[in-house]
Amino acid sequence: MTTLSFRHLLDSKQITESDIKNIFELAEKYRHAGNAKNYADGDAAGLILATLFFEASTRTRFSFETAMHRLRGNVISLEQGASSSVKKGESLSDTGRIVSNYCDVIVVRHPEIGSAAELAKHATVPVINAGDGANQHPTQSLIDLYTIFCEKKTTNNLRIGMLGDLKYSRAIHSIMELLSRYSGNHFTLISPPSLALDRAKKEQFEAYGCKIEESSDLETSIKDLDVLYATRVQEERFPDRMEYEKVKNCYRIDKQLLSKAKESLAVMHPLPRINEIDYEIDDLPQARYFVQANYAVYIRMALLYLMTRS
Ligand code: NCD
Repeated sequence: MTTLSFRHLLDSKQITESDIKNIFELAEKYRHAGNAKNYADGDAAGLILATLFFEASTRTRFSFETAMHRLRGNVISLEQGASSSVKKGESLSDTGRIVSNYCDVIVVRHPEIGSAAELAKHATVPVINAGDGANQHPTQSLIDLYTIFCEKKTTNNLRIGMLGDLKYSRAIHSIMELLSRYSGNHFTLISPPSLALDRAKKEQFEAYGCKIEESSDLETSIKDLDVLYATRVQEERFPDRMEYEKVKNCYRIDKQLLSKAKESLAVMHPLPRINEIDYEIDDLPQARYFVQANYAVYIRMALLYLMTRS
């Protein structure tokens, strides 16, 4: 039987090459099945997923819940974390212990770094981190890697632009962790200086053997890229509103910019977009962010299935 190397999924660092292989193989099956009737070799009938969201979400919560429904499982949901007993002062670790009584797997999103790990401390069912502050969003990184794999047929020897809020975006931190392990990958980091990737993180990724360069010029850098991964400036993470105002419109991907890029460039974005991608490019072949959002369901189905087997 296929097993994963982790019980709780809290950080992309935990995900091994063999985990990726197992998750992608199953996601491929679900994607090609085309119809929910054909999911029989991997279902979660009778199991319950609890989703606990203490921060805004559309894609992540819905795709997790849809994934569980497609596996014939059930979902209980705390849409507004603020309406839970955490509001009364209950700790996250107690919440994890208690909610474990009512479900078989927990998905949690919370604004504090380390919150998912705290919730997992006494949980007796697997816990999945769906975003802990600016830290990690490991399931998004699996979706992103899977999208790259489907689009490029490889995850090696790619030139990847990372654009926008490299300081606060947990999606950036998580996908870089996975991509930097594959040989030959070359990153170009493009951000305003105040939103640059943390030096310790950069060194950690470089230690895997990838190349990382920094650029302030998107127009020049875009020419060589195979993937351009853009992010929203994470307004809610700024301690100082004025700092956000200075950088909120720092980049915009439009037709004029894409005319300088390779035809095979894949523009990706975890979404939501605010101002960084012009709607006029949505129908261009380079725009891959809606496909990426669609793949979320297959990856989360595979994860929910595999994490509730062991
Ligand atoms: C991302 C997140 O929540 O970190 N969204 C998502 O899960 N698809 C990106 C973002 O909010 O900017």
